[in-house]
Amino acid sequence: MAAPVCILTCSPRRGGNSDTAAAWLRTAFSLPAEVLRVADKAVHPCVSCGYCAERPGSCVLDGPEDGAFSLLKALTAAPAACLVSPIYFYHLPAQAKALIDRCQRFWTGVPPGRGTPFGAVLLAGRPQGERLFQGAELTLRFMAHTLGLKPVPPLCLYGVDAPDALAGRTELRERIRNYAAELEALAGHGRSF
Ligand SMILES: Cc1cc2nc3c(=O)[nH]c(=O)nc-3n(C[C@H](O)[C@H](O)[C@H](O)COP(=O)(O)O)c2cc1C
Repeated sequence: MAAPVCILTCSPRRGGNSDTAAAWLRTAFSLPAEVLRVADKAVHPCVSCGYCAERPGSCVLDGPEDGAFSLLKALTAAPAACLVSPIYFYHLPAQAKALIDRCQRFWTGVPPGRGTPFGAVLLAGRPQGERLFQGAELTLRFMAHTLGLKPVPPLCLYGVDAPDALAGRTELRERIRNYAAELEALAGHGRSF
């Protein structure tokens, strides 16, 4: 059976804006799609032990108590993927950054992905700021490169702060729907590692 579109929602705030945007995104895809909450998966941070330098693709922290392997597998096997995240201090929350650092296992060797389009919906509380999303965008582009995914420029939403800030925002829902269509148009067939 084909893997579903992978939507990673990255806020620790349950039921907040990222979770709402992820749910909107999921229903906007015509392909089957699943939402995975990174903060619920207990992804441990990279400890720079050097294990993966000797064994590309493997991580000493993988195991039943840790969610990185299953999340990276879902991401690279999907026909399309999208991360949904708040901006924290001009970047991504710690839980998402932990997952990104766990991609270090693919820094050497063959990237596991096969060009899956990889987008992001980024939400920030501030109503403006030219550089608000730059840190996250650069890191996500480099993450995509390391995993063998095709980075798609993120959809950046300003002025989304209170947990229910998306309620009734039909114009933002429409932008998210159009973004899903853009990703789906680029979708191919992922593979697993
Ligand atoms: C620790 C922390 C750091 C934040 N840093 C920023 C920031 O640098 N810029 C900004 O515009 N909003 C910032 N925010 C606001 C969030 O991006 C905003 O509330 C967002 O909608 C939260 O999404 P969520 O409901 O999915 O958690 C921060 C919020 C928290 C809790």
